[in-house]
Amino acid sequence: MPQTVISVKDLSKRYSLGSMFKRTKIDALGGIEFEVKSDEPTIVSLIGESGSGKTTLAKLMLRIVEPSGGSMEVAGKKILAGKKERIRDEDLKALIQPIFQNPFEAFNSLKSVDTYLRDTAVNIRKAEGKDAIEKAMREALMAVGLRYEDVAGKYPNQFSGGELQRISIARAIIARPKLIVADEPVSMVDASLRMNIVNLFKSIRDEYKTSFLYITHDLATAYYISDYIVILYRGRVVEAGDARVVLLRPLHPYTKLLLNSVPAVGQKWSSREKMSDIETKEYRLEGCKFCTRCPDRLPECERSQPPRVDLEDGRAIYCFRYRGDGKAK
Ligand SMILES: Nc1ncnc2c1ncn2[C@@H]1O[C@H](COP(=O)(O)OP(=O)(O)O)[C@@H](O)[C@H]1O
Ligand SMILES: [Mg+2]
Repeated sequence: MPQTVISVKDLSKRYSLGSMFKRTKIDALGGIEFEVKSDEPTIVSLIGESGSGKTTLAKLMLRIVEPSGGSMEVAGKKILAGKKERIRDEDLKALIQPIFQNPFEAFNSLKSVDTYLRDTAVNIRKAEGKDAIEKAMREALMAVGLRYEDVAGKYPNQFSGGELQRISIARAIIARPKLIVADEPVSMVDASLRMNIVNLFKSIRDEYKTSFLYITHDLATAYYISDYIVILYRGRVVEAGDARVVLLRPLHPYTKLLLNSVPAVGQKWSSREKMSDIETKEYRLEGCKFCTRCPDRLPECERSQPPRVDLEDGRAIYCFRYRGDGKAK
């Protein structure tokens, strides 16, 4: 039986927005589900444009925020569920490690970067003794193409963004996690270096047997490294499946739109920081969140949530257009 890499059930996160007098609620995640099972470590890409709920999912997994409902398993362990059922915070850190978007924010500018590596080796890896700790640091740095001698004793501002992101990856792998959650890890890295960094994920997957949740709005990088793909739109999964299956024959109208407009590596579809009116409106639609933009919409799309259709090729698609055989209506 293949193992559960990630399994998400009915996971939701509701935020309240606005002032006391004009409150709105949005479901940044509106009851999503997907399941990745494999005997091999897997790179799962979570793809969606800005404001689709990606960071919300990452924050839930790291327990930076609490879900409004639902559950999640990683490597067969319950990480989101009732407090009694789920694993402890300490065990979560050994299971899942993060890599953040901006490496300069992830490191305190007044601390030498090897402090972080050492802390992870001691507190999470439980390395004991000077030699074992240094060995763990050396190995992890080597895995990301850096030398311990070039890193030890230096401060964040002595590195480029790309180098510092490599150091964050090294820090994460010292913990030997089952899963690394990387939220837009290359969007602040120089465009010419992005592929080098995402390719590192592949080598770490193979060498360390670590799975990844690679969160991105950048379909081009996801294209090269994904084993499995989940596409989000306004807090809902629209299509999820094996990367080759989805990329070679996208079925959901939104996935098709994305693939027809694959930008060059690193280019953004949208870089809006603030939530636009359209975004709020789409989040609050009764039916399919994509229906106002969808070239193939049917009357029912506006009225209710699209059904989940499971196809023979293993993918799930949320769309009124499809029947179980993958044929469009
Ligand atoms: N703390 C918060 N309070 C209110 N709304 C939030 C909060 N965090 C995120 N949101 C909203 O939830 C939606 C999803 O945000 P986010 O998860 O950051 O998306 P993404 O990472 O895909 O850009 C957005 O509309 C965003 O404005
Ligand atoms: Mg985000």
